[in-house]
Amino acid sequence: MTAKIIMFGNQKGGVGKTTTAVNIATIIAASRYKTLLIDFDPQGNSTSGINGNKKHAGTYEWMTGNTANPIQTTYIPHLDLISANMDLAAADIELLNAPNREFILARKITELRANYDYILIDCPPSLGLLTVNALTASSHIIIPMQCEYYALEGISHIMQIIQRVQGGLNPQLQLLGILLTMYDKRSTLNQQIANDIRFHFQQNVFSSVIPRNVKIAEAPSHGKPIILYDVKSTGAVSYMDATKELLTRINRSEAA
Ligand SMILES: Nc1ncnc2c1ncn2[C@@H]1O[C@H](COP(=O)(O)OP(=O)(O)OP(=O)(O)O)[C@@H](O)[C@H]1O
Ligand SMILES: [Mg+2]
Repeated sequence: MTAKIIMFGNQKGGVGKTTTAVNIATIIAASRYKTLLIDFDPQGNSTSGINGNKKHAGTYEWMTGNTANPIQTTYIPHLDLISANMDLAAADIELLNAPNREFILARKITELRANYDYILIDCPPSLGLLTVNALTASSHIIIPMQCEYYALEGISHIMQIIQRVQGGLNPQLQLLGILLTMYDKRSTLNQQIANDIRFHFQQNVFSSVIPRNVKIAEAPSHGKPIILYDVKSTGAVSYMDATKELLTRINRSEAA
């Protein structure tokens, strides 16, 4: 096995990075692929989202070289976790003077890559050192985005960053696509922005769309991904569709 490493990144906050990472990780694991979810955000939301243990040695200890085994199993079959908590907020500063500080995750992850089919990284809402580490370590990136007014500006920015990373720190990085989240089909503004995004970014936008769905928002408070909380909800169905499309897009990117 050589895991595909997929990061969920967008410097904008609250666009559905964590929700998407947790739900897609669970659906991939449910297809019996050996999967690892790395919580790379000090908020620790993806750790909570699958009822992970925030006290277990996690991303912070791993990145700073203070644990040999950051991996915890989860109650979800085939899904492991490297957890995060507020300690990780210090990593940005503590690692500032580390040698090759942009490549710490890339180095660490090579030790694990043979053990998994998929490794998913939930990034914080910034373009700081943690996100740069994810960009250098990943084979693929998905950009979750909400169809709101300022979204286009934010997307242009992260697209430029990706191009810069591809031209230097990580030539292997491939854009899997932009995934529209929390979409309200009754909102004219949502429709207009989705049209704009598709016009600008064409096939780089997932055809699957994640609707705004109350079950998706409720699930984390039960420590459950949507397919375990309400598998028949439109939210669950949309994440299953998006995961199918993601796997197709990965295969296509391999063939290219
Ligand atoms: N499709 C959806 N329908 C309804 N609510 C959603 C949906 N997706 C996400 N949410 C809710 O929106 C909020 C933000 O989502 P989420 O935490 O996934 O975003 P994020 O990009 O990870 O945020 P941050 O930048 O803070 O890490 C959460 O409360 C989440 O439950
Ligand atoms: Mg998040």
